[in-house]
Amino acid sequence: MAGRLQGKVAIITGAGSGIGRAAAQLFAREGAGVAVADWDEKGGKQTAASIGRNALFVKADVSSSADARRIVDHTVKKFGKLDILYNNAGIVRYGTAADCSEEDWDKVMGVNLRGAWLCSKYAIPEMMKAGGGSVIMTSSIAGQVAFGNIAAYCASKGGLIQLARSIALDYASKKVRANVICPGVIRTGMTQDLLKDKKAMQPLLKSTIIGRLGEPEDIANAALYLASDESSFVTGSVIAVDGGWTVQ
Ligand SMILES: NC(=O)c1ccc[n+]([C@@H]2O[C@H](COP(=O)([O-])OP(=O)(O)OC[C@H]3O[C@@H](n4cnc5c(N)ncnc54)[C@H](O)[C@@H]3O)[C@@H](O)[C@H]2O)c1
Repeated sequence: MAGRLQGKVAIITGAGSGIGRAAAQLFAREGAGVAVADWDEKGGKQTAASIGRNALFVKADVSSSADARRIVDHTVKKFGKLDILYNNAGIVRYGTAADCSEEDWDKVMGVNLRGAWLCSKYAIPEMMKAGGGSVIMTSSIAGQVAFGNIAAYCASKGGLIQLARSIALDYASKKVRANVICPGVIRTGMTQDLLKDKKAMQPLLKSTIIGRLGEPEDIANAALYLASDESSFVTGSVIAVDGGWTVQ
């Protein structure tokens, strides 16, 4: 049976670990050629090696214009086209609006929002050449509701939702779709310290009404749907994959 992404080519940023790695492996199992983009060489190479011949590792900082362009160029050079961009790379820095440093603000906005914009900027023209495509963003529940002491992160994740809607509107006629996934608390490197903190975890677990933490594969499955032609009537949408966090 043909895979759900048979013949497609995808770029996944932040694919050196966590959600991005799970998505890269799933997309490849479903038949896609996958460009694994990450600034972490070790993790990125590991992901690409776990996939094999259908993977390309590109060491890149998504907040750099030259690197974002290079991710797209190398992908098209290896696989001949581009159908899917999964903007997933992200970082978190702590601080309220008043005490977040300018450096941390720029860092978070640079990776989470500017990085997604830059990769989209260079990927969309290639998708149009391929006859259409799918842009996917990993936002967060923190893009929809506020969380204490991570002002820059919340702002960047909210911005991703509006960036996706703008792409959806501007490129619908070119068959380029754009959608957003808002994960809840997922077991990855980003949350490993938090997961050890029983006191901090208690309210987080309580709000996850489904009664368990999320796994990277929970998000990868949603990304697969948005990447595939099964979602060809879906654009500008925001999909919560949060164990029910945002129902109340
Ligand atoms: N884990 C959660 O609970 C959770 C919840 C909501 C949203 N998210 C989002 O999911 C996405 C993936 O995070 P994760 O949980 O898998 O964490 P993770 O730390 O395991 O993965 C993030 C990856 O992004 C890479 N990265 C960071 N900055 C980069 C840059 N400038 N250029 C290229 N790569 C870069 C890292 O090297 C890493 O491999 C992030 O956008 C994060 O904000 C995570």
